[in-house]
Amino acid sequence: DLGGYRYYMQKEIFEQPRAVADTLLDVNAVMPELFGDKAWRVFNGIDSVLLLACGGSYHAALTAKYWIESLAGLPTAVEIASEFRYRDGVANPNTLVVAVSQSGETADVLGAVHVAKRAGMIHTLAICNVPTSALVRECALNFITRAGIEIGVASTKAFTTQLVALFLLALTLAQLRGRLTDEEERQHLHALRHLPDAMAKVLALEPQIMAWSETLTRKENILFLGRGMHYPIALEGALKMKEISYIHAEAYPAGELKHGPLALVSDEMPVVAVAPNDRLLEKLRSNMHEVSARNGRLFVFADVDCGLSSGPGLNVIRLNEYYGPLSPILHTIPMQLLAFHAALARGTDIDKPRNLAKSVTVE
Ligand code: F6R
Repeated sequence: DLGGYRYYMQKEIFEQPRAVADTLLDVNAVMPELFGDKAWRVFNGIDSVLLLACGGSYHAALTAKYWIESLAGLPTAVEIASEFRYRDGVANPNTLVVAVSQSGETADVLGAVHVAKRAGMIHTLAICNVPTSALVRECALNFITRAGIEIGVASTKAFTTQLVALFLLALTLAQLRGRLTDEEERQHLHALRHLPDAMAKVLALEPQIMAWSETLTRKENILFLGRGMHYPIALEGALKMKEISYIHAEAYPAGELKHGPLALVSDEMPVVAVAPNDRLLEKLRSNMHEVSARNGRLFVFADVDCGLSSGPGLNVIRLNEYYGPLSPILHTIPMQLLAFHAALARGTDIDKPRNLAKSVTVE
């Protein structure tokens, strides 16, 4: 049932406030039990975290690295599952292995978890949207996101709910390590509970984002930039763009521009920047000047009070507020809408992009 929407992806983008609220339904406090009965014991014995995933779920995992390291102070590695499973890595039995997957049936993720377990890494946690999946059965602990069934091949609500689950994991690990005061816990839970309202406000920016898509849809290449915990969001934006509009899109951490990709920038290569009001905004701003100086057209997603306004070669859409550590969740939404409207303008098969399957159960 499309409920008035033209595409499942569109419906699923707009369902995100509900999906996040549902995922938080039983979360009354930060506590290990959110991840299973045995989680307290497991989490107390670990000294590091290894996140394994593919595709969009890998981008959620990359975002989690920033959260887990800054909040919990635990060394965190993120690996693409198909690479990890065939690499002679160094196994640490005290690592918490976190597999992130919407479907829980992705062959490479299951393969990577098998490899980890065989190497003696038995502390496994699944963050998954399907409670009956093979991955949930395979892992000792789990957190089930409540995005609901996702039909569009390009993941949207599953991604943002994975981020919610991973943020809760970071908070839980921080608490167990004595790095989360009761007041901080209260503030983070408050921010999480207000996330659905904040997301609804970002969704309301759709008309402005749609107007940008009209320009972008005529281009063959787009560069996405982000810094810090918004670099994975730029990666996710480029992936969505590739998947459904078939426009070639690449994401770079903005500081890497001058190490190569700046050579590509011209008025034919628009640049989309994820530019929230965090401590990296000033740095990003100088990266954006590098683009403008080469006639690059900038499309910037900023927040209120960013001090940026649209002008020649510079287009700015402002989100209503800077949302602290949860900002990547809000900044994901414009990425999804931009790709959706670019694809819509190009007339592609949005819910079933060519050559792709919803669940990749083969290698
Ligand atoms: C991106 C997308 C894919 C999946 C990837 C992993 O829009 O849908 O990249 O994220 O195939 O799938 P799961 O999360 O089911 O393991």
